[in-house]
Amino acid sequence: MTTVRLEIDEKTVHAQEGTTIFEAAESAGIKIPHMCHEKHLKPYGACRLCMVELVNGAKKKLVASCVYPVEEGLVVQTRSDKLTKMRRMIIELTWPVSQDLAKEFGVIRSRFRTETSDCHLCGICVRHCSEVKKLNTVYFKGRGIDREIAIVPGLGNECNYCQECFGFCRGGKIIQEFLYE
Ligand code: SF4
Ligand code: FES
Repeated sequence: MTTVRLEIDEKTVHAQEGTTIFEAAESAGIKIPHMCHEKHLKPYGACRLCMVELVNGAKKKLVASCVYPVEEGLVVQTRSDKLTKMRRMIIELTWPVSQDLAKEFGVIRSRFRTETSDCHLCGICVRHCSEVKKLNTVYFKGRGIDREIAIVPGLGNECNYCQECFGFCRGGKIIQEFLYE
């Protein structure tokens, strides 16, 4: 396997070709905030909280680090005013599930959410059920603002025996969904 060299937050990092910027940063001890990324699942790229800036001279480009592959010579910034502003916005939009991150980014309320939501659609429960358990008992139903997670009617018993995804859920929605199935 080919190793590439890149720079993350002014630190030289070596990573294997095919890995992502997120993984390279993590292996170098650099933490990138994230919501939908889960180590044991395939990259998903939904929440955009893990966005970083690629610097090319005076130009900067925003990419989602959990799906963007490393390249020789990349210069990456994981923290900047622009990224903080964007992350604060995402935290507000996913209120109140993102409370732990809110603390880190100094967000004390959301300008957007009037009703409370206990799911930020990270898809971890759905993907764990599909990729790891090969069951597809938990799924997304609806589109756009109506999109939500659900358990296939009548299959709640599978969840009763499993419950593996419960521990990954930030908002607790999957547990409620299971209880009321
Ligand atoms: S129920 Fe939990 S794990 Fe599933 S998508 Fe919503 S927040 Fe993510
Ligand atoms: S953690 Fe990368 S897009 Fe969600």
